Amino acid sequence: MRDMKLGVFDSGLGGVLIARSIRERFESVDMLYLGDTLHIPYGNRSADAIYAYTERSIDYMFKAGCQIIIMACNTASASALRKLQQGYLAENYPDRRVLGVVVPTIEYAIDKGFEHLGVIGTNYTISSDVYAEELKKINPSMRIIQQRTPLLVPLIENGGERWLEDVLDSYIQPLIAQGIEALLLGCTHYASFKDIIRKRYNLEVISQDEIVPYKLDLYFERHPEIYNRLLLSGQNEFLVSDITPSYIENAQRLYGREVNLKHVEL
Ligand code: DGL
Repeated sequence: MRDMKLGVFDSGLGGVLIARSIRERFESVDMLYLGDTLHIPYGNRSADAIYAYTERSIDYMFKAGCQIIIMACNTASASALRKLQQGYLAENYPDRRVLGVVVPTIEYAIDKGFEHLGVIGTNYTISSDVYAEELKKINPSMRIIQQRTPLLVPLIENGGERWLEDVLDSYIQPLIAQGIEALLLGCTHYASFKDIIRKRYNLEVISQDEIVPYKLDLYFERHPEIYNRLLLSGQNEFLVSDITPSYIENAQRLYGREVNLKHVEL
């Protein structure tokens, strides 16, 4: 029976870019987006805090009828995904799925044949070393240089785009000087300026909004039992744990069309 939804989870609104590209590929799947705007940014918090916020959000989404949830947030994927899959999910919802974004993104970079990769992400994502660790398991010969870029999310969330290029220069020029072939954007929000990076530095950019829908399609091919549970009436629900006029404006700008953003208590 088709009575379930596809979930997209992020710490805030950056993941709307992933929801948008998923919607472009899967026009009729019913989708529920949850942004934990009350607790953003996750990237400067402790592992315990990120885990607690993530579990609460995922729990809400399962209770709201999600069969499968894309954990679009890299910080949550780095910190909470494995623990959540092995504990909470196995105990409470063994027939449902939560998929992270780190491994699919690394697989894509490997398939593209890059050998020297730059990765940018939040303080937590980079400190966790998740990209280097996962890469080591799949392709130990690939070189990786990582850079924390904590100013980028606040800049995007607070309309600070006019300082973006200066901030990007200071983060990305040193990576280019070390000879990276491609830059992996390890944070949902960064997809919003992927074209600025491509143009300004003439660099190959690996952006998750271009990867996740494609990887999800492959996943559904391997797991028709999951896809066949999803409602196909093209409904969207956009939920946030805190709401302000600028969140509403941001969600619409990122989604590229009208969004009925609703506040929920987690
Ligand atoms: N969504 C987060 C990520 O992808 C970034 C924002 C945050 O720090 O919460 O890493």
